[in-house]
Amino acid sequence: MLEQIKSTAAFIQSKISIQPEIGIILGTGLGGLVKEITIKHSINYEDIPNFPVSTVEGHSGKLIFGELGGKNVVAMQGRFHYYEGYDMKQVTFPVRVMKCLGIQKLFVSNAAGGVNANFEIGDLMIINDHINMFPSNPLIGKNIPEWGPRFPDMSDVYDKNIIEKAKKIAAKNNINVQEGVYLGLSGPTFETPAEYKFIQIIGADAVGMSTVPEIIVARHMSIPCFAMSIITDLGVAGRIVKVTHEDVIEAAAKAEIKMTLIMKELIREL
Ligand code: HPA
Repeated sequence: MLEQIKSTAAFIQSKISIQPEIGIILGTGLGGLVKEITIKHSINYEDIPNFPVSTVEGHSGKLIFGELGGKNVVAMQGRFHYYEGYDMKQVTFPVRVMKCLGIQKLFVSNAAGGVNANFEIGDLMIINDHINMFPSNPLIGKNIPEWGPRFPDMSDVYDKNIIEKAKKIAAKNNINVQEGVYLGLSGPTFETPAEYKFIQIIGADAVGMSTVPEIIVARHMSIPCFAMSIITDLGVAGRIVKVTHEDVIEAAAKAEIKMTLIMKELIREL
């Protein structure tokens, strides 16, 4: 695993002329941030040795290097989901590679179902904590001490300074943001009404099928993290309607302009 990661990073380094400072993982329907990047290099996942290949609609599967908000960034357009059949090590492989490439911060976006009764479809939620309900954890197995500790602290996962800056940027631009707990689970089924209720009762505000594995691995390596959800559907009693992947993509696309602005300004200010 360690050798694979190092050789993948070496391959990428041989193809690029910039040193990325910030890593970005773009969620379902949220690839629009890429339009704001002054692209220097773009590498398809299938051309990267050892990289899994994304299969889900709404993801185009590219690693993009360029400048955003005056900083060098690497953005994953399309991520690897556990429900696609990848194991947790594959899902989080690109995060290890981005660390080898030198990233010092990780920004993550996703589409999520809202279970907080104050939420509306199209809301943005800054993630301030998470609950891992995936059936596994990406750190299971032999620990590599040069990456991080066997038992990593999780008391302070989402960087408070970055969250404060994001809230200020949102206020300045008249963008309403929610803040809350993201619960990550495997999917690929959306939740039953009883499951949404359970998720809300145990302390989450939103639920989705990503983000938690990547964030755990980033925090294992002490990378400061910032993550945001777009609420694409509601799992709130009395307001639950049937939801499709297309609905999620459509709702994400509508709200992504606001998210893009916050992410871009945040990167500029860091
Ligand atoms: N549940 C799980 N994942 C999701 C949802 C949801 O309601 N919406 C978008 N991703």
